[in-house]
Amino acid sequence: MNILLIGSGGRENALAWKIAKSPKLSKLYIAPGNAGTHEYGENVNINTAKFSEVKNFVIEKHIELVIVGPEQALVNGIHDYFLADDKLKHVPLIGPVKAGAILEGSKDFAKSFMEKYSIPTAKYKSFTLDNLNEGYLFLESLKPPYVLKADGLAAGKGVIILEDIAQTKSTLKEMLEGKFGVASNKVVIEEFLKGIELSVFVITDGKSYKILPEAKDYKRIGEGDTGLNTGGMGAISPVPFADKQFMDKIEKRIIIPTNKGLVKEGIHYKGFIFFGIINVDGDPFVIEYNVRLGDPETEVVVPRIKSDLLDLFEHVANETLEKAIIEIDSRTTATIMLVSGGYPESYQNGKVIRNLSHVDDSLLFHAGTKIDCKNIVTNGGRVIAITSFGDNISEALNKSLKNAQKIDFEGKYYRKDIGLDLK
Ligand code: AMP
Ligand code: GLY
Repeated sequence: MNILLIGSGGRENALAWKIAKSPKLSKLYIAPGNAGTHEYGENVNINTAKFSEVKNFVIEKHIELVIVGPEQALVNGIHDYFLADDKLKHVPLIGPVKAGAILEGSKDFAKSFMEKYSIPTAKYKSFTLDNLNEGYLFLESLKPPYVLKADGLAAGKGVIILEDIAQTKSTLKEMLEGKFGVASNKVVIEEFLKGIELSVFVITDGKSYKILPEAKDYKRIGEGDTGLNTGGMGAISPVPFADKQFMDKIEKRIIIPTNKGLVKEGIHYKGFIFFGIINVDGDPFVIEYNVRLGDPETEVVVPRIKSDLLDLFEHVANETLEKAIIEIDSRTTATIMLVSGGYPESYQNGKVIRNLSHVDDSLLFHAGTKIDCKNIVTNGGRVIAITSFGDNISEALNKSLKNAQKIDFEGKYYRKDIGLDLK
């Protein structure tokens, strides 16, 4: 099969690494990819935001399957574009149609969907500038901290959690007046839930579903979960507290009703569903839906999938997922993300990355890298994910840490405590 993978992060590098192992692969193209995906296929410089460019490429290269990594193209309707085009409609695409992608594209939609299908989530109400005063009253009915969420996509920055009610009210007003552009024309205010988070991944063909390994992501820049939020500084899988009993609750209370809800709404969903879950005293609640895999979660989840990924995608395309068999490696994986100095605030690109060949016993998944005159240089805040296997978290983490020391670039920073809170 000729495959087109859309995206450029660590998630796509992990997917490219896995797809390249498949006996079903003829040729893999990654658009735009990075210096890491370059090892597993051909990086192509097409503007994937322009669906007509994707179309021309798919036809020219006889692409037989498209996998969409990030959410934006899905929310913008790339799958619908394929289905509406005579030349593309027979090319399967992994990722939901717009009506499904709205689960991530609109927090207000996601909350009303959960309410409709009795899926446990935080109590909420949505507001626009027209009913700002009611928003203030709703805030007064809640206890701090207060959670404000921009309805639309805001590059992962649209959630603000504040302690002080006066500050929350003024932030609510700023959001509704355009702090995040149109994404915050509507704001979801919700009750704060206290607990520990995990990411649960499901793949569905629109009929049945399979649960993939779960993971825990470490979002804060500083050790001990301190400092600013990032795209994710590391991850581990499996998650020790997600035992059978807890996962059964997630399946029964969250995954099954979500799947049934999608079917009932007539949303033909083919792709990944990423449930951001919070464990509140042993009970799972949905914090958010995403319509893609997580990053850096993919860097620990995909290596644990032993079975063939293209085979799984074919089952999704053919709507035979029920028959698919997914084999999971029981070992633990830990990934740590090397980031650019200054990230998640301002940082410099173009730093030469050295000693990549010194790494042993770990997998390297590039995130923000590119090739510049034969050198591999930094090209983003999150630079490289280092994933290792172990019999437990410490063993996996220590291997990744050893290799993190070896790789060198100016300003390199990483957290050394990924997973240690769960040991
Ligand atoms: P999101 O962008 O929806 O993933 O939200 C970003 C982060 O905000 C989440 O990963 C949680 O840590 C936190 N968060 C969101 N909603 C809530 C909530 N209702 N209660 C507590 N924390 C929350
Ligand atoms: N790691 C969280 C995300 O991908 O949204």
